[in-house]
Amino acid sequence: MFDINKIREDFPILNRKIYGKPLVYLDNGATVQKPRCVVDKIEELYYTCNANIHRGVHTLSQEATELTEQARKKVQAFINAKHSHEIIFTKGTTESINLVASSFCRRFCKEGDEIIVSAMEHHANIVPWQIEGDISGVKLKVIPINEKGELILEEFEKLISPKTRLVSVTHVSNVLGTINPIEKIIDIAHRHGIPVLIDAAQSVQHIPVDVQQLDCDFLAFSSHKIYGPTGVGVLYGKEEFLNRMPPYQGGGEMIGHVSFKGTTYNELPFKFEAGTPNYIDVIALGTALDYVLSVGLEQIKEHEDYLLHYCTSKLQEIDGIRFFGTSLNKSSVISFLVGNIHHYDMGMMLDKMGIAVRTGHHCAQPLMEELGIEGTVRASFAVYNTKEEVDIFVDGVNRIVGMFK
Ligand code: ALA
Repeated sequence: MFDINKIREDFPILNRKIYGKPLVYLDNGATVQKPRCVVDKIEELYYTCNANIHRGVHTLSQEATELTEQARKKVQAFINAKHSHEIIFTKGTTESINLVASSFCRRFCKEGDEIIVSAMEHHANIVPWQIEGDISGVKLKVIPINEKGELILEEFEKLISPKTRLVSVTHVSNVLGTINPIEKIIDIAHRHGIPVLIDAAQSVQHIPVDVQQLDCDFLAFSSHKIYGPTGVGVLYGKEEFLNRMPPYQGGGEMIGHVSFKGTTYNELPFKFEAGTPNYIDVIALGTALDYVLSVGLEQIKEHEDYLLHYCTSKLQEIDGIRFFGTSLNKSSVISFLVGNIHHYDMGMMLDKMGIAVRTGHHCAQPLMEELGIEGTVRASFAVYNTKEEVDIFVDGVNRIVGMFK
């Protein structure tokens, strides 16, 4: 059963006071807090089992290697990938997308080819393609959004041309909260023979994702947004693509044989994991996924949906509030502005009340341009947030609005 008090006990940081007030942490879209089991696992590993993986015949190295490969299998099961070697560990969603941009474009793209993204992408799913554009000459085409902050699918299909090489879209917008109809997007793209990358940085912690059912070709997410440590990310890729793509970085462990005459590369997944991996945090990501599964993703979603709707309905009562992202199919993110109150002012004043929200452009400047604003105030929820915290937050916003009157 879902026991919020018991869940909160798993997150010691929630006992902190900020300016003498209990912390109300609503910046979960940026990063979530870590349960005790994840932090304990990191300590336990450093104290009992730290040795470089895939490199030693000695016991510690063998144990660390075994635990890392178990974590890979946990990730495989979590997103239901067909093979564990389709799971590549990176340092985050950003690196996962950079890897695909660099390696996929080198293998499959030429001058004038097109990559389709959407107007609501995070910079991490825009800039890598632009950098690649300077090298291989690929160009971006952009799926527009409607006034609710939803992708316009009819326009998407019109963007597809014989030059389209990849569609790369976010599952859930970090600003608008919109849950995009990725099943339809993948279906449309595949009918034209085009592979699809899903940026799942804002979705896997809220919504069950099954890569085989979706049939996406690549999927990226970050450990730190799903209760795991920072500095670890996942790239899922179908082996048929990953096998044909060149390595992203060179170094130890990604090789078959090295000589000055020429080098051969290792098999998947190691071909894409040059250098000593962040194995301690990879293993702790496995612990985080165990934690999420023990609470239950469906339960987490239900709880967060309740908070989203309760908070939205309370905020709606505020005069002059504008919401950005009003899709019915929405995840637990609320972006808003009230009257002429600057988002930074609102964020700083909320902080003085112990309430942490994100303010600014949320690494989505093209979306801000589209919305005709500089930034928003964003509250985003996680499993440990409560109705009482929503009340404190809404009360805080109301008090700030009152001060500006
Ligand atoms: N991408 C993270 C956010 O939306 C950092 O806040």
